[in-house]
This record gives sequence, structure tokens and C-alpha cells, in this order.
Amino acid sequence: MTPLKALGGTSDVLPEESRHWQRIEKEGRRVLELYGYQEIRTPLIEEAALFTGSLGEAAEIVTKQMYLFEDRGGRTVALRPEGTASVVRAFIEKGLDKTGGLTRLYYLGPMFRAERPQAGRRRQFHQFGLEVFGSASPYQDVEVMALLTRLLQEVGVSGAALKINNIGCRKDRPEMIRKLKEYFQTSLSDLCEDCHLRLEKNPLRIFDCKQDKCHSVAQGSRPPSQWACGDCKDHFKKVCEALDLLKVGYELDPHRVRGLDYYTKTVFEVIHAGLGAQNALGAGGRYDDLVQQMGGASVPAVGFAVGLERILMAGSANAVEEPKNFSSPQVFVASVHPAQIPQALALAEELHGQGIAATANLEERPLKRQMEQASKLVPNGYTFILGEEEVREGSVTVKEMSTGSQRKVARADLIRECFHD
Ligand code: HAM
Repeated sequence: MTPLKALGGTSDVLPEESRHWQRIEKEGRRVLELYGYQEIRTPLIEEAALFTGSLGEAAEIVTKQMYLFEDRGGRTVALRPEGTASVVRAFIEKGLDKTGGLTRLYYLGPMFRAERPQAGRRRQFHQFGLEVFGSASPYQDVEVMALLTRLLQEVGVSGAALKINNIGCRKDRPEMIRKLKEYFQTSLSDLCEDCHLRLEKNPLRIFDCKQDKCHSVAQGSRPPSQWACGDCKDHFKKVCEALDLLKVGYELDPHRVRGLDYYTKTVFEVIHAGLGAQNALGAGGRYDDLVQQMGGASVPAVGFAVGLERILMAGSANAVEEPKNFSSPQVFVASVHPAQIPQALALAEELHGQGIAATANLEERPLKRQMEQASKLVPNGYTFILGEEEVREGSVTVKEMSTGSQRKVARADLIRECFHD
């Protein structure tokens, strides 16, 4: 018998290489848990309707790349092409959409897309992804992008560029679509056949076309954010300001959209020049309507996924250091007034940089409610409270949760006093 081979676009990972995979997985989990994320594992096969109904009819993943088949019971099932739809399904199915509050979930595992295989493009590939449900705050987008940046750093990838854009909300879409249709109609002869279809179904998809001609037509268009409403513009402004405050590097990319339909407001991609044609290391964004659209309550959400194969291609994975020690969240950072939220987020980032597990309050809500949340999250840890006075004088009010005792500590002494003494 002729020896059989692995299917095209799938790979074996032999021991020498799987050491690097394990390291990235371990380090990735460490970073995610530092930010308070917990793992969810969902099935590799789902009803096909889950993906057709959520990713968008005109999305290439749906039209061209899904592994579809009929199972023995005559159901049309699909190998999952991505993780978000499954996580949202589980979130709703288990009633988590009714519990209120924040749910931070991460996942790691194989995804399947029937694409033409090439360097960095596999038919079975692996994603590390996260989804956070229950926050409409622009600072949640920022926390997620700061995490993504840290994750890439800690797994040994340098030279990645974070590109961000604002694609507006559902209310902005009809006018945006109408105007984009008008614009693209004027250049029909320069658009490829696929883009003619995209023009019908969702002209935003044209920004994603890899054909040179379509790309240059799209670049000539007004960017989608121009049709974003005041709320979306304000949201995005806060995102940019807080990224600056946290010193998370990014580039505005006004023509960037995503290949999936569920996104609203902030979208982002991390690009690495060393990857060649398939240059996206990871991508994500906000999706405030998907949970409701899939039959759940109205719960805003944001998330991203990175491709592990691409991280391995881009990074000096072997140079990754052994993980630092850490345990579940030790610190909750509260703010007396919403004006201190960006500072609270920046303090949590500083703690993450020191390997200290922390989450910050990112919602506009009273201190009392934040303290209730803190006693659930860090019953034996600390709550760091930032008010106007603390920010002005460079201090933090530290509450030791097990004893309830409270004292003010200079910002410069904080980590030494709380964690090293
Ligand atoms: P995506 O952009 O389709 O987003 O995929 C995310 C990442 O998965 C890509 O940036 C890339 O690194 C990797 N990837 C995708 N396709 C392949 C392939 N054929 N071969 C190798 N790597 C690949 C999503 O999947 C969204 N679910 C991300 C998200 C999560 N948005 C919100 N939450």
C-alpha cells in the first residue's frame, strides 16, 4: 500500500517543535489569567447554522471556507472556522447572559478553514482567543488591546504593529452601506467578480479584498468611520487616548474592516512584516449586537484571536523565558470617580508588567458597588483605590481585603510594600 500522508494544509507537530508550542501555550495562559480570564472549551463541531447566522452571509469564511457535512442524523454540521460564535452560543446556552457583570473567557484550540494552503495559511490551524462579555466601556477595548500587546511580547514576538479603526454601530450601518454602494457603483469595472457580489451583500467586505485593483478603489473611498455617530466617535476617541496613556503603540488605519459581520465600533489587527502575504498575527474587535442577535440578552462584548502557527513563524519562540509565578487575581483597582478609570487601567497594566494578577473597574459605577465586586474577586488580596487626591499626589489607597484595614501608600512604594515585604 502507498503510505498515506497528512491532508494538505494540516500538519504534524513533532516533539522538537511541540516544545515551542507548549511554551507559548503556557505563557499565553499565564498572561490571560493575569488579567482574570478563565478557560472555556467548546466542541470542534457545531451546527452549521451557528456560523452562517453569525459570521455573515457574505463572509468568505462562510461562502468558501467552511468544512460542511451531513452527519448520520441528517444534520448539516461544520468544523468550527473560528471560536467567537461557539463561545457566544455557550454563553447564551448556559444562561451566562442573564447573570450580569463581567465574564472573561479564553480558549485555545484548532480551527478549520478550507483555504488554499500556503505559508501561514493552514486548513487546520490553532487560535488563542478571548472574549469578554458585559462591558460597553471603551476602556475594555483598551484593556483587551493592551493584553494582546503584552501577550505577543511575552511569547517572544517583536516588531508587530497594532492597527485600529472605528467601523461604527448598527445604527450607523444603513447610511454607511448606502453611501459605500453609491461610491463603489462608480468603479464597477475595476472591481473583481467577488466584489460585485460583496457590493450587493455587504460593500464593507470590499475593503478586505486582496486584489490590487479592488484595494486601490477601496482606498479611494471615504473611510467607514466618517459615517459613525457621535457616540461611536466619542468611544473611539477615549480608546485612542487611553492607549496613549498606557503607552500601547498603535496606528490608525481608517480603511481597515474585518472579514466577519459581527463587529461594531472598535476593530483591530496585529500585523507582522516578517510573515509575508498572510501578515495578520491576530485580530478582533467589539461586537455589541451578536449575543442578542444569537438569541441572548443584550450584552456588549469584545475579543480577539491570534494564530499560533503565525506566532511561531514571527517569534523567537525559543527565547521565551520560563513563566513567572502567579496566582489568581490579587488586586482589584477601583476608581472613586469615572475620571480616574484610565488611571486605574494604567495601574493594572503596571501590575501585569510585574507579573501581578489584577483587574481594574472599567465601568462608570459607584465605589460601593466596586467594593462589593472586589470582595468577591480578591477576598484575600488588595483593592487599590484611586481618587482625585491620589492621582494628584501620586499615591494609592490600599485596602487589605482580609482585615479591612486601609492606608495610603506612595505610588513609588506600592509594589514593594504590598508584595515584597
Ligand atoms: P480572524 O481574523 O478570522 O478572527 O482570525 C484570527 C487569527 O487567526 C488571524 O489573525 C490569524 O493569525 C489566524 N488565522 C486565521 N485563519 C488562518 C489560517 N487559515 N491559517 C493560519 N492562521 C489563521 C477570528 O477568528 C475572530 N473570531 C477573532 C475574534 C475573537 N474577534 C472577536 N473575538
